[in-house]
Amino acid sequence: MAGSSFGQAFRVTTAGESHGPANVVIIDGCPPGLELTESDLAADLARRRPGQSHLVTQRAEPDAAEILSGVLHGRTTGTSLAILVRNVDARSRDYADLEDAYRPGHADYTYDVKYGVRDARGGGRASARETVARVCAGVVAKRLLAAAFGGRVVGYVTRVGDVRAHVAAPELVTLEQVERLPDGSPNLVRCPDAARVGPMIELIERVRKEGDSVGGVAEIVATRVPAGLGEPVFDKLKADLGKALFSVPAVVGVEYGDGFAAAERRGSEHNDPFQAEPSAGGAPRISTVTNRHGGMLGGISSGMPIVLRCAVKPTSSLPREQATVTPGGEPTAVRTRGRHDPCLLPRFVPIAEAMVAIVLADHWLRWVGQTRAFPPRT
Ligand SMILES: Cc1cc2nc3c(=O)[nH]c(=O)nc-3n(C[C@H](O)[C@H](O)[C@H](O)COP(=O)(O)O)c2cc1C
Repeated sequence: MAGSSFGQAFRVTTAGESHGPANVVIIDGCPPGLELTESDLAADLARRRPGQSHLVTQRAEPDAAEILSGVLHGRTTGTSLAILVRNVDARSRDYADLEDAYRPGHADYTYDVKYGVRDARGGGRASARETVARVCAGVVAKRLLAAAFGGRVVGYVTRVGDVRAHVAAPELVTLEQVERLPDGSPNLVRCPDAARVGPMIELIERVRKEGDSVGGVAEIVATRVPAGLGEPVFDKLKADLGKALFSVPAVVGVEYGDGFAAAERRGSEHNDPFQAEPSAGGAPRISTVTNRHGGMLGGISSGMPIVLRCAVKPTSSLPREQATVTPGGEPTAVRTRGRHDPCLLPRFVPIAEAMVAIVLADHWLRWVGQTRAFPPRT
């Protein structure tokens, strides 16, 4: 009921708060035999980590993951996998004012209304600190997808405020392009269109100087996903991906394929024609010439790359005065003193990748369980 668990066959449960001692994830249903060490978790945790560049929050968390159970001699055992990441740099004094004022745009008011009690320190469970646990689960899910069908999930930033990137072939974007610029230096905004990186950085620096924040868009692409994953009605792959991505704090929109642009098209313009080519196994390999459908039809993967976009709002905590009220209803003003990201997009990318990988791992295990119990029909 309380919604801290997600998925059916690959089931992820998180616990932990921004200023508590640690965040933890428990993964049930992970198959045995996947290679997994604590250092495998480090790369994606570093991509999500606060303090990774001058463009993000300066909270200094090492984000070193500890595997508590479910791994023996560097391989998953198939039993419940628990991973813990400690919080070491919480500065609760920065949040003292927030006991008596609701931050506009944040979850302070709605938590108070629902629970009558709220951990104002760092936003408690509403803080994106919780997503550190999801990124750990995402690493395990990515391992599973790679081992099962050579699957890969890569995300990147396509928009910061009004600065838009041009990405002609989403399925060809590599992790290297997202993380490094052509000259080898770090790609601080995780935008693969190198020409737009400078303007994006300038905009983030400008809003930070103005005591403001800015939103943006990230695109996430899953490749080599076999056709057939997903359920026909409530657990459509697109529905589960939508839920997974909307569960990430600050996501205000999710679209797949041509998304909202499809609303203004004719069917004759939007439909992706099918094509077939012979394959070694006998059955023809069917694909579509274009991918406006974003890799899912009828809630089931089509075998084309899965392409999604998330709109992420500007950070609500601002180092400038914002008018608000106290819990008693008195007018007041709030100016956030904690360390915050002026733009959430660079750190959002690995979190979104993790959620997409978790959903695909879950649906792949469900697909294997349901359709591979007997030899496939010929
Ligand atoms: C990576 C990441 C970092 C975030 N950091 C902050 C932050 O520093 N300050 C803030 O006010 N909100 C931050 N947020 C967003 C809040 O957690 C979110 O807006 C809040 O919980 C309210 O939820 P909602 O925006 O989904 O309604 C962050 C979100 C993400 C994905």
